Amino acid sequence: MYPFTTGSFAVRNGWYVAAFTHEIGEALLARTILNQPVVLYRKQDGQAVAVGGRCPHRHFPLGKSCRKGDGIVCGYHGIAFGPDGQCTDIPSQSVTPRSYHIPSYPLVEHGLWAWIWMGDAHKADPALLPDLKAIGLTAPGMAARALFVEHVKGRAQLLNDNLLDLTHLAFLHGSSIGTLDNAATPEDVVKRPGFLGSRRHMRDAEAPPVVAHMGHDLARIDRVSGMDFHLPGFHAGIDESRFPQNHERAGEAFASSRVYHAVTPETPHSCTYFFAMATTDASAIDIMEEYLRPVIAEDKFATEEIEAMLAVVGENPAELLLKSDRNAVEGRRMLQAMMDAEQVG
Ligand code: FES
Ligand SMILES: [Fe+2]
Repeated sequence: MYPFTTGSFAVRNGWYVAAFTHEIGEALLARTILNQPVVLYRKQDGQAVAVGGRCPHRHFPLGKSCRKGDGIVCGYHGIAFGPDGQCTDIPSQSVTPRSYHIPSYPLVEHGLWAWIWMGDAHKADPALLPDLKAIGLTAPGMAARALFVEHVKGRAQLLNDNLLDLTHLAFLHGSSIGTLDNAATPEDVVKRPGFLGSRRHMRDAEAPPVVAHMGHDLARIDRVSGMDFHLPGFHAGIDESRFPQNHERAGEAFASSRVYHAVTPETPHSCTYFFAMATTDASAIDIMEEYLRPVIAEDKFATEEIEAMLAVVGENPAELLLKSDRNAVEGRRMLQAMMDAEQVG
């Protein structure tokens, strides 16, 4: 499916964000991840778990069922499942066959996020999770917060494409975080297995509207803007604003923030989008939360409009690519290679 080959939907063997950790509690939280119904909850000892969300008896949603002890009791005919997915009770009979079970998935709480592995469980290596220090989450003086969870009626790759090509900042977000320099400055790209990073170093650049919004009286600034894609579904962005070269505090950073976008495929035509940020100025997060709400809505809008367009024109529209698409095309290639390898293996 667009923009991948026919039959390629999503990488299975990789960590995806299933939820922010604060979303998971005693109550059942239902999500759809890689076309599978999933239920998340915390056991009595506080450990977060993820199991399949469909009762194998008559397909009743377990996310709309009840907790009992550390397990779930199906709301239809009362069959119970433990946190490992194994059936523990069938009210209508005395025997509970070992074969009666639902899936259970590896789930790791790491940073602000609970990460799930929907592929082969024996491949679920926590060492493959993004390094929290490297993404700036645990840097000294950084305050971080989970901000938005959006259900988007568009395929995950449309949001990945969006995040891999920040030239859109100048236009889709021209009234807030972007300027023409975002589109005009060439990017430096770093690539290694499972990782694709991009940086734009802007000198004496026009200050985007957000600089005035945060109370800085500067028309021009030096700026570093970038995004690191941790395949298959996590993007860690950096935005650092410095006083420009002719300023008495030239080179000094006056604002530094990190943004975290997690894109988790739901169905072939929808995804869940998790947005969080970290900044050196904790008091700025409240302001940024309100300021960035419409920015996230703009990306959601673009994604859903393109999905609707694809529904009209079909899965293989000719695409006129530009030089600035290099990073997005590379990201697509890397994901396609991972999906191809899974089909062979
Ligand atoms: S559908 Fe779950 S017990 Fe019957
Ligand atoms: Fe955007």
